[in-house]
Amino acid sequence: MQKFRIITVEDKHLSVSPNLENHERAYRDFDLKGWVRGEVEYFDDGKLNAAYNAVERHAHNENKNKVALYLVDESLNETKLTFFELNQLANRFGNYLKSLGVNHGDRVFFFLPRTAEIFYGFLGTLKIGAIAGTMFSAFGSDAIYDRLENSSAKVLVTTEELKTRLISVRRKLPALEHVITTKRLAKVLAKHSDELHTSHTDVDDPAFMLYTSGTTGKPKGVIHAHKAILQQHLTAKYVLDLKPEDVYWCTADPGWVTGISYQILGTLSNAASTVVYSGRFDPKTWYKIIEKYRVTVWYSAPTAIRMLQAAGDELVRFHNLSSLRHLGSVGEPLNPQPLLWSNRVFKHPFHDTWWQTETGAIMIGNYPCLDIRVGSMGKPFPGIHPAIVDDHGNELPPLTEGNLALKKGFISQMTKIWRRPKKYKSYFIKGWYITGDRAYKDKEGYYWFVGRADDVIKTQGERVGPFEVESAIVSYPACAEAGVIGKPDALRGQIIKAFIALKPGFKPSEKLKLEITEHVKHHLAGHAYPREIEFVDSLPKTRSGKIVRRLLRAKELGLPLGDTSTLEEY
Ligand code: PRX
Repeated sequence: MQKFRIITVEDKHLSVSPNLENHERAYRDFDLKGWVRGEVEYFDDGKLNAAYNAVERHAHNENKNKVALYLVDESLNETKLTFFELNQLANRFGNYLKSLGVNHGDRVFFFLPRTAEIFYGFLGTLKIGAIAGTMFSAFGSDAIYDRLENSSAKVLVTTEELKTRLISVRRKLPALEHVITTKRLAKVLAKHSDELHTSHTDVDDPAFMLYTSGTTGKPKGVIHAHKAILQQHLTAKYVLDLKPEDVYWCTADPGWVTGISYQILGTLSNAASTVVYSGRFDPKTWYKIIEKYRVTVWYSAPTAIRMLQAAGDELVRFHNLSSLRHLGSVGEPLNPQPLLWSNRVFKHPFHDTWWQTETGAIMIGNYPCLDIRVGSMGKPFPGIHPAIVDDHGNELPPLTEGNLALKKGFISQMTKIWRRPKKYKSYFIKGWYITGDRAYKDKEGYYWFVGRADDVIKTQGERVGPFEVESAIVSYPACAEAGVIGKPDALRGQIIKAFIALKPGFKPSEKLKLEITEHVKHHLAGHAYPREIEFVDSLPKTRSGKIVRRLLRAKELGLPLGDTSTLEEY
């Protein structure tokens, strides 16, 4: 077992000691009620509102005039919002929604870049007890349609530019009563009061929903309740080590769960100032942001770290990054090379954290007080009980690969899959929530990621369902059938590779590849298109006609084909 003593509290000569000083003791003695006391506020009637905790309480305490958000664009122009101002905007937005007839439990969706509207809009929605849904701004018309249709969203907030992607599907969305552009918001918000009675939502009331992909079918709407703020707050404090005096930068997008749990909810709740960068990835600009804002805690993803590494050490030396004190990573395996590199150039290693859209918050992680075992995801957060189980839910011994499972019922566990109760039930077996990841545990309780148990693709840390990409491909007139896999890639973790059989009369060509790529980008998403296309005569299928991606993957990677007895002749 490779144990690599990267850094310890003593080594770091920390000017501040970490919030979590002893993982073993904390794990043993954990008691949720005790940990939450003084951290997250319930109303007197025992109710809880996540947005109240993230922003409202700080708008009235000593954090009132502190910057909650530094919103930075590509030219490093900034908009600052204090906790007080952010709360006022959230209130105005909430009142505006009410004036439109939005009620408790209605769905309000956001299709926006990383500007102020997504933050106050999200918080304002939660404040009135409605359910906020977010969509990544690279989505195309089919992806937007699937989400708005399945959720029966009543309101969509978007920009003039992004709104054009709605045109072709708008009339198929009868439940969508209001499409509000940011231009319109700018005009109407001032007319609404900045005072709002925040809804005393029940701990189990839905707060937000996110669509995420599995192996089959359309993306599913994962619902999280207001109570998830407990786990988001505690993990932001004890895993990301956030303190109120920190300047924190999370590079994720609020269209994904990291951007919600650790750019809006758990991190604002800890009263740290958060930097939000809305521009494209550019190493120089990224370092400039750290330098300018004196970022202390930085939460990013392996692909970005590998891209920074590829940009070279020189660029790092050229900037003063001495403010950094704690680095975290999420979304895909953090391989040893970028981890060791970060430790060398930033003088701090990225601390890997593991979780999922469905878990709502960090479950397993590396902590400032623990040695890092390079390549491991770390140890479970206090109160979280993972295990490695076989396909029947029986626990497996250490050093045995199996399904990564979590003891069911943790506080930030998704509460349902929107309109799909059977699907929701299928996640659980013998008291375990089955994550869909393969992993093993070592003898000292560190968890090691092996891969996905299903066909889900992780490209640049973003989760993509092969079925959605295949559907987008075959909606192109030349394509008869398609099989899509994740192909290992040194920079992006995986890239999407598509095997396509053409309809009679169509010939493979580079031009056709380009046309298919554009088609997928337009309909599905700007990030979920196949970077590699291979034309084939036919695809491996089961006798019932299902495409066998396992075989495509095995062929691509030169692996054994395994059992092929149930397959149609290929
Ligand atoms: O396969 C695991 C991978 O990302 C999946 C969850 O993706 P998503 O719902 O988009 O949430 C990502 C951000 C929380 C997991 O099932 N994953 C996430 N973190 C890690 C990881 N794989 C390896 N190591 C990680 N630290």
